[in-house]
Amino acid sequence: MDAIRIYGGKCLDGQTGIQGSKNASLPVLAATLLIKGTCEIENCPEISDVYHMLRLLESLGCRVMREGTLVRVNTEHLSEGDMPADSVGVMRSSIMLLGALLARVGSVDMDYPGGCVIGARPINLHLQSLRKMGVAIEEREGGFSARASRLKGAVHQLPLISVGVTENLILAAVLAEGTTVIEPAAREPEIQTLCEFLKQAGADIVGIGSDRLTIHGVDRLFPVHFRIPADRIVAGTYLTACMCAGGRIFLQDAPCHHMASVLSKAAEMGAELSCEPDGMLVMCRAKPAGCERLCTGCYPDFPTDLQSLFMVAMAVSGRAGQIEETVFENRFRIVPELVKMGADITVMGNRAYIGSTQRLQGAIVQAEELRGGAALTVAALAADGTSIVTNRHYIDRGYEDIVSDLRELGAEVELA
Ligand code: UD1
Repeated sequence: MDAIRIYGGKCLDGQTGIQGSKNASLPVLAATLLIKGTCEIENCPEISDVYHMLRLLESLGCRVMREGTLVRVNTEHLSEGDMPADSVGVMRSSIMLLGALLARVGSVDMDYPGGCVIGARPINLHLQSLRKMGVAIEEREGGFSARASRLKGAVHQLPLISVGVTENLILAAVLAEGTTVIEPAAREPEIQTLCEFLKQAGADIVGIGSDRLTIHGVDRLFPVHFRIPADRIVAGTYLTACMCAGGRIFLQDAPCHHMASVLSKAAEMGAELSCEPDGMLVMCRAKPAGCERLCTGCYPDFPTDLQSLFMVAMAVSGRAGQIEETVFENRFRIVPELVKMGADITVMGNRAYIGSTQRLQGAIVQAEELRGGAALTVAALAADGTSIVTNRHYIDRGYEDIVSDLRELGAEVELA
C-alpha cells in the first residue's frame, strides 16, 4: 500500500483546501526551542516531515501535544539529548535545530542530515557561518558535534543564497550577544513567516522580506500562539494538475500573493486565474499552451520545488521548450519515468529539452523524491489509461493526503 493508482484523461472539477506550509512549519517548530514555555502552532500540516521534526523535539526533552493540525510545544525541560538518527537521517531540516539548540543549550551532537536526493545538498555553509558566531565544531564519521557558551553576533557575507542557512543563522542570532547581519539573505515567504513568528515572540529583526537581515540579539523570547500560512507549493501542485488535465477548480486559501512567478508562467501557458480573498479559481483548457523557456531561481523567481510539475505541463503541451534548473543539480530525476509515459525529454547538464509530445500513456512509475512524486501523479492525470505511482511515502513527506485532495478536485485516484 505504498502507491497511488490514477485513472487518467479526466477533466477536473471541484474544490479543495490548501494545507499549512511544510517549509514554514519546520523552521517555526525549530524556533520553539528558543522559547521557554509553551508555544501553540496552528495549521501545522499532518505530514511525515512534521512528524519527524516533532519526534526530534521530543528527543530533546520537549513535551509535544498534537490535536490534528494544532501543535503545542513545551520546552521547559530541554536537554542536549540524542536525536533519533532515523529522523535526522530522513529529513534535511533537522539541520535547522542546530542554530536554535546551540542558542538554548550550547551543545549539539548530530548525524549529517538526510532529505530528498535532489542534489549534493552540503551543509558546509551552515557550519562555516556558525563557526563565525563562536561555535566550535568537530566533524566525525557520519556527523559532528558543536559547542558554544554564548553565541556571538556576526556579519555574514554569504557566497550564495540559501534558504536553510538564512533560517539557521536567524535562529542562532535572535538570542546571540550583539548584532548579526545576513547578506544576501534568502527572501522566500517561509523566511518571512519565521521572522514574523520570532518578532511576535520578542525578537528584534530588521529588513524582513529583503535580502539584508539585521538581527539584534535579545535576552529572552516569550511563548506565542501562531498560525502557519497555506503552502504555496501544494497550491502550485494542484494548479498544474488543472493545467495538465483541464477543468475548473477552486483552491481554498491558496496564497496567491506569494505565487507571482508561478501564476505568471501558468497564465502564459493558458491558465485563467482569478485570485480571490479566500483562494484561487483556476480554469484550464484540456491541454496547456507551451512555454519556450522556464528557469528556476531564488524567490521571487520561479521555485525549484515546482520545476518538475511545470515540466509535466510543458511535456503535455505539444510544443517544444526548455527548462534551466539553477538551484539543485539533481532535480531532473523524473525524466526517465516521464519518458516511460511517452514524453520526449533530453537532459544536458542543468537543462532539460522538452520535445513536442501530444499525449502521455499510463504506466507504472516510481517516485524518487517528494515533488517529483507529485509531478508523476499529475502526469498520470493527463495520461491515457491507468498509471501507478509507487513509493508514495516520498509524496507523504509534503502532502497531507494528495489522494483525497485530488478526488475533491474531481480526479479518479485511489491508494494502491
Ligand atoms: C529549501 C527548501 C526546499 C527548496 C530549497 C530552495 C525547506 C525545508 N526546504 O531547502 O524545499 O527546494 O530551499 O528553494 O525549506 N548549499 C550549499 N551549502 C550549504 C547549504 C546549501 O552549497 O551549506 C547549496 C545547495 O546545495 C543548493 C543551494 O545552496 O544548491 C540552495 O539550497 P538551500 O536554499 O539551502 O535549500 P534548502 O534550505 O536545503
